[in-house]
Amino acid sequence: MLKKIFALLLLVFLQSSWAFAHDIFGFPRHRGVEPLVDKKYESSCGECHFAYQPGLLPSRSWAKMMRPEQLEDHFGENAELAEKERLYILKFLTENGADKTWHYKRSVKINQSIPENVTPLRITETPYIKKKHMEIPRRMIQDNKKVRGLSYCNKCHTEAVSKGQFSRTNVDIPNFRNWDDLID
Ligand code: HEC
Ligand code: HEC
Repeated sequence: MLKKIFALLLLVFLQSSWAFAHDIFGFPRHRGVEPLVDKKYESSCGECHFAYQPGLLPSRSWAKMMRPEQLEDHFGENAELAEKERLYILKFLTENGADKTWHYKRSVKINQSIPENVTPLRITETPYIKKKHMEIPRRMIQDNKKVRGLSYCNKCHTEAVSKGQFSRTNVDIPNFRNWDDLID
């Protein structure tokens, strides 16, 4: 009995020190990006594409994107918001940007790949995300009617919306179920 209790205590101790070590030494503890959900954000920014998790871009990128003049011409679309909504979403995005969520591996990788003096507005133009998709041919992305562009992450990454996961093991490209055999 005593042995069992001791073993249990040891296990609890090891587990918490593992988590503690991750925090102290700054290893990211989770695999994807933080799967944050916000109703207001989703209804304002999830209409034309899925509501990108804040951890996919650094805070300075969100701050730039959320300027009124930027929203007026948002990649050729008008994404203007009422001032109250704009400020709410600006806060949500900038407080949870890729530079703030260092315990999530993908956010850390994205953030580390961007030079400090650059403020990308596209996730797809950050060096890390660009590199990860370099081998995928156009016919699977831009020319694929069920995808339309690399911006539509959730068309291929089946756990992007539900879990903030972008691992290659959960990719399913529409019309190209055997993508893994076709990419070299
Ligand atoms: C009226 C439609 C519309 C709304 C509303 C909208 N967007 Fe977009 N967004 C677009 C289009 C179009 C693109 C470019 C997609 C492409 O290149 O195919 C885009 C691209 C983006 C990208 C870059 C994706 C990439 O290529 O990496 C981000 C980030 C983004 N939007 C965030 C937002 C945020 C935040 C909001 C809310 C404030 C928002 N969007 C609202 C239409 C919209
Ligand atoms: C056309 C389908 C498609 C779209 C759209 C797409 N991806 Fe991917 N993504 C892939 C494939 C396929 C791979 C694996 C590539 C390889 O390993 O050769 C991948 C790999 C990745 C990886 C690395 C995964 C790993 O295990 O190393 C990340 C991170 C990622 N994508 C994020 C994104 C994000 C963020 C977006 C949207 C801005 C996006 N992807 C859009 C198909 C897609």
